Amino acid sequence: MQGETVSSSLWPGIMSTATALSNPLTAGTSGLLPQPCLLVIFGAAGDLSWRKLLPAVYNLNVDGVLPSHFAVVGFGLGSEGDGDQWLRRRALDGVRHFSRRPPDDSHWADFARALFYVEGSFNDARAYEQLKARLDSLDQQFGTPGSRVYYLAVPPQVVPICVDHLKAAGMVHDPAEGQAFTRVIVEKPIGRDLESARQINADVAKAFDETQTYRIDHYLGKETVQNLLVVRFANSIFEPLWNQKYVDHVQITVAEDEGLTHRDPQTGEVTGSRIGYYEGVGALRDMVQNHMLQVLCLTAMEPPWSLDADVVRDAKVAVLRCLRRMTPKDVEQSVVRAQYIAGDVHGEPVAGYRHEVREYFTQRRQPVPADSTSETFVALRLFIDNWRWAGVPFYLRTGKRLPKRSSEVAIQFKDVPQILFNAQPEVPLEPTVLSLRVQPEEGLSLRIASKLPGPKIRIYPVKLEFNYSASFGENAPEAYERLILDVMAGDATLFMRRDGVEAAWELVTPILETWQTSHQSSLPEYRAGTWGPLEADRLIEADGRQWRIL
Ligand code: BG6
Repeated sequence: MQGETVSSSLWPGIMSTATALSNPLTAGTSGLLPQPCLLVIFGAAGDLSWRKLLPAVYNLNVDGVLPSHFAVVGFGLGSEGDGDQWLRRRALDGVRHFSRRPPDDSHWADFARALFYVEGSFNDARAYEQLKARLDSLDQQFGTPGSRVYYLAVPPQVVPICVDHLKAAGMVHDPAEGQAFTRVIVEKPIGRDLESARQINADVAKAFDETQTYRIDHYLGKETVQNLLVVRFANSIFEPLWNQKYVDHVQITVAEDEGLTHRDPQTGEVTGSRIGYYEGVGALRDMVQNHMLQVLCLTAMEPPWSLDADVVRDAKVAVLRCLRRMTPKDVEQSVVRAQYIAGDVHGEPVAGYRHEVREYFTQRRQPVPADSTSETFVALRLFIDNWRWAGVPFYLRTGKRLPKRSSEVAIQFKDVPQILFNAQPEVPLEPTVLSLRVQPEEGLSLRIASKLPGPKIRIYPVKLEFNYSASFGENAPEAYERLILDVMAGDATLFMRRDGVEAAWELVTPILETWQTSHQSSLPEYRAGTWGPLEADRLIEADGRQWRIL
């Protein structure tokens, strides 16, 4: 694939405005360039590769930001013997359905000629020999210097198998030797609990040094999530207020309208299902342990003294270490889990989660598990026991089949004293809220009190708005584009370090254990298309606060 080698930036905030406006992926001050390599996608026949990875690489190609010498090799089963052609068809389909840009003929041809597939099973040593031989020959063809990025888009239990075989086949370079690099991208979930996460990390470490390991959390690649640090540390007005003296509480919401089964809107036919992965996993593991805690870290961390990967990651881990661990009693009082039952989303009737689970296993002629207790919604109250955040609750909520897709971080500031404009306790002023909208309608707003025009003093809340698309145009790069490019550049800033992943599990595992020992056979329910169960409202209302209406 031919394209100019360009740098990826560490953070958009350190670019000049002109550069940021022209292309947020193409320039920065880090000096790290995406380097020539072969990107090898393990599990290229899977959903992630189809929906996200192949469309991401296609867009990088269109943007001309891939290294000048580069190709993609899929590895796994499922091509029905049709190898390269199959992957090209699959990629085209993925780009048509999910890419931010439709395929255009000239770019497509350039992209497709650098797509290859090696059919083989992850636990077959001979398949790795074939893969190695193919990669070596592609090095000749594309002029790549033997450098590899292995993207393990496979279930967590398969990760150690792939890593072992890669090492045994001599496909992992020692980072201390030679020019060619080997890097591995590990997808979430990393483990099911603290112990299994430690095991996976240890297994990966047998073959790959930490400097070669990129644990991906795609939320960290979202522009709006990266902007959290820029808003905080590139403006002088927020940081002085960003602490327990001025902040009443923080709410982090990741709401999704989708369920676990996708249907064709016209025919109602099932077009895809994530039940196979999600059942037995649930929202706490799927969303909170990784995405939401990472967002919390960026919201709460101390200013890093530089943007070096490890400096930023140290600051994030410090937050995780200060999160108050929960006793079983805390779990009872501060965590709510629930499951959606049938309801309506956007006016369309949808099935309940347990129905989807039964349908999934019945269709596959597999035994239907006992009634599921996997939560599709979770709400938590967390505390960060450090000087900055002492006593400030962080409320987190996430769920499937909520009324809309909407994610934000909201900082609610303390009330002004009850004098002057806030002198009437029966009509309190609306609090000041800074809301950072992660998606959709990316942007931020600051709600402040203003005088309603007229002869009397009447106060009305107004919003100061910033909207990404209005300021920077539509079509911002997808998180996976940014992250794949960063791996090729060797920039680990936006990836989770081993200690960070384990520290997040240290918070989450006691909650899972409490649930497990409670042997609850049914969970609180919420109708699909509503904002979760009553129990979640009670959780926050018990503190005299309310969930924000999104
Ligand atoms: C994934 C979860 O990591 O993130 C999914 O496994 C979830 O359950 C998805 O739907 C949300 O990502 P995004 O980018 O659509 O907000």
